[in-house]
Amino acid sequence: MRILDFRSDTVTRPSPEMRAAMAAAEVGDDVLDRDPLMDELQCRVADLLGKEAGIWTPTGCMANLIALMLHLRPGDRFLAPAQAHVLGSELGTGAWLAGGMPEALPWEGGPGRITPMQVWRAAGNPGPYDALRTTLLCLENTHHFAGGACLTAAEHHALVEQAQAKGLKVHLDGARLWHAAAALGASLEALAWGADTVSVCLSKGLGAPMGSVLCGTRDTVAQARRVRKMLGGGVGQGGVVAAAGLVALDYLPRLPEDHAKARRLAKGLRAMGFTVPEPQTNILLVPVPDAPAAVSILEEAKVRVLPVGGALRFITHRDLSGADIAAALARIQPITDRLVTTWEGSRPMV
Ligand SMILES: Cc1ncc(COP(=O)(O)O)c(C=O)c1O
Repeated sequence: MRILDFRSDTVTRPSPEMRAAMAAAEVGDDVLDRDPLMDELQCRVADLLGKEAGIWTPTGCMANLIALMLHLRPGDRFLAPAQAHVLGSELGTGAWLAGGMPEALPWEGGPGRITPMQVWRAAGNPGPYDALRTTLLCLENTHHFAGGACLTAAEHHALVEQAQAKGLKVHLDGARLWHAAAALGASLEALAWGADTVSVCLSKGLGAPMGSVLCGTRDTVAQARRVRKMLGGGVGQGGVVAAAGLVALDYLPRLPEDHAKARRLAKGLRAMGFTVPEPQTNILLVPVPDAPAAVSILEEAKVRVLPVGGALRFITHRDLSGADIAAALARIQPITDRLVTTWEGSRPMV
């Protein structure tokens, strides 16, 4: 029985077309001077986001870190919605490498969402010389740990305007901005409006084996190139991975299919008695009494998920078909009781 892997949308394998494009890639040397496919990919993504330029990075974490290193100085504070990836899932690099003091803003605007009033309050006013200065707002769309919740273009616009009015820079972690655009029927450009830097991932849901692009002004991207080198993120024959990124962009029109799969899964699980919020995109958080124990039970049934807080995280993606969703539900049905009743209590961390 094949394992149905819902752990992440990063588990997808390069498609045959992608592998063929990688094998045939025309390459230069992106560290010495330029690589033609890297340039093409960076321009394509920057155009999609309505920004002047872009720079490829191997990971989303590196793209976010470069942005934070460009925007922050020691003694600065940055704001982000609670549970943002830059706060809790990047090993605190925003603080210890970029030198910013993080401040998590509670979700007063709905799941994963903050309000302009919160930004206004948290930005405060310049204090005495020994006070932290709030200089940056980090947004995340979709918000991963809020179950892929989307910020609408209007919400994004209002937050950016408020940040700008308070003199803050804005970085948007748009690892899954594509998913928000697909779910909202909004343009990527509208969802990236006004942000000084935006990072997007080609490896999440779109099928590339690796790669993100950080976009901003030409000048910002020139500085980002230096920081990427400092972090060891320059690659020579980058065309091989840029070719994968270009093919990955072809999947954008199909993202609604993955969102539909998540909704189907949610509906099926609800019918079995689970409490499941309606997913806006491809991430589904299913609360259970003991998530680590439930993960092991599901693993026996060859359904692979991750525990996130008190929930099971299912992420749908291109390598899981509609039939796979039906198969997953069929495998879960007979073990539902165990999933909703098992409580093994505290266990040692491994
Ligand atoms: C919202 C968000 N930002 C950034 C990242 C980091 O991306 P990477 O794993 O490519 O470093 C992730 C990864 O899941 C993410 O969900």
